Amino acid sequence: MVAVMFPAAGSGKRMGAGKNKVLLPLLGAPVLIHTLRRFSSVHSVDFLIVIVGKNEVDEVGRILEKENGLKPYKIVIGGSERQYSVENGLKALPEKADIVLVHDAARPLISEDTIEKVISVAREKGAAIAAVPEKNTIKVVESGIITDTPKREKLYAAQTPQGFRRDVLLNAYEKARKDGFLGTDDSSLVERTGISVRIVIDDDKNIKLTTPNDLKIAEAYLEGENQCE
Ligand code: C5P
Repeated sequence: MVAVMFPAAGSGKRMGAGKNKVLLPLLGAPVLIHTLRRFSSVHSVDFLIVIVGKNEVDEVGRILEKENGLKPYKIVIGGSERQYSVENGLKALPEKADIVLVHDAARPLISEDTIEKVISVAREKGAAIAAVPEKNTIKVVESGIITDTPKREKLYAAQTPQGFRRDVLLNAYEKARKDGFLGTDDSSLVERTGISVRIVIDDDKNIKLTTPNDLKIAEAYLEGENQCE
């Protein structure tokens, strides 16, 4: 059984909309609904865990109730950091879930193809994440001074979904808690347990909506998709 967790409990300060960015409208539906629809149309996805802020549980509940065709879901209250939000989600995992995906709710443009590939590599190898080859030259900077320029061929931007066998992810979260480690994605927690994490090359479209400009880009992509249908 495949369960997918959607951390959506961020404050969305950089979006500057005064409310959770995943509840903002995008071509007629909240960003969160776009994201959940994409996962619900993947046959092998069985269960959705939507992680939101304490004050948003009722609103999100109403929005999800109105939407037909979603896979079975549960709404969970998040924490003060993304990692703590996912940790709360893990407590709500159905017993039968042997593969767990984590996907930023703020990435509504994810393709079904990438979701399926991440599930299949996670099942076969234990851990897999969506990633794109880095186009920029990345600098390591300390106190305003560049201290390193890593070789670009080796750099990939990590995206979501990130998928793991259940035991792999639970062990990683337990170790992070014990060590007081706070990461910005789930893979970084798994990497420190010594497990090899594979990448699934994704397309540039799977952006994380962060600023108002990203909403416009997402709208343009969706309009393009609708015209192709
Ligand atoms: O802040 P950022 O865009 O990196 O967050 C990525 C995802 O994690 C977003 O969908 C956001 O809602 C979620 N998040 C969360 N709990 C937090 C912070 C972020 O669920 N405390």
